[in-house]
Amino acid sequence: MKRPVGIGIFASGRGSNARALFDACRRGELDARVVIVISNDADAGVHEFAREFGVSSRTIRRDEFADGAQFAETLIGTLREAGADLICLAGYMRKIPPALIRAYPRAILNIHPAPLPKFGGKGMYGLRVHAAVIDAGDAETGVTVHYVDEHYDTGAILHQRSGIPVRADDTPEALAARVLTVEHETYPEAVRKWIERHARTGGEADE
Ligand code: GRF
Repeated sequence: MKRPVGIGIFASGRGSNARALFDACRRGELDARVVIVISNDADAGVHEFAREFGVSSRTIRRDEFADGAQFAETLIGTLREAGADLICLAGYMRKIPPALIRAYPRAILNIHPAPLPKFGGKGMYGLRVHAAVIDAGDAETGVTVHYVDEHYDTGAILHQRSGIPVRADDTPEALAARVLTVEHETYPEAVRKWIERHARTGGEADE
């Protein structure tokens, strides 16, 4: 793959991790560019960031389609047309259709705001993740970027950061804010790793 890697971002909300990826591409820290943003919510903050960075963003919702196959086909068509080689889920609150996972083998990543597999699975999102870390009494937490498979948070881990302190008086909100700043460094690091592993070698280094 000679041209910069095309990144498609899926996000449902605020979009701060999406922004971190836009920034890393713009600063030339990644041999990549964001080519499309897809959300399930027309009001998601991520559309604003996309406009700011001159990237097209689309709202594509499952309930607009008669069945999951048509939904998946539209997602795949939109990504291919935009030139997306890699998909980065950044706070995307919907399950990825299996057909899309098959269309982008080992090329869909997700960021999770805690160590996996310990603090993952269905229902483990948002503040619940940080509440679980505090309840577990762990002294440290982390950030995980993993490949996406057909289950929640079970795909192989690509990159992890650890050593984020959990303080005795932490609330889930305070811990989430501390972790989020680390997420913004971790996602670009993970994408760099993905490019080294998959794009520069044409996938030969894939395990
Ligand atoms: C992040 O904490 C991410 O780890 C999780 O969802 C949150 C999204 O935040 N998957 P933002 O929209 O990127 O600000």
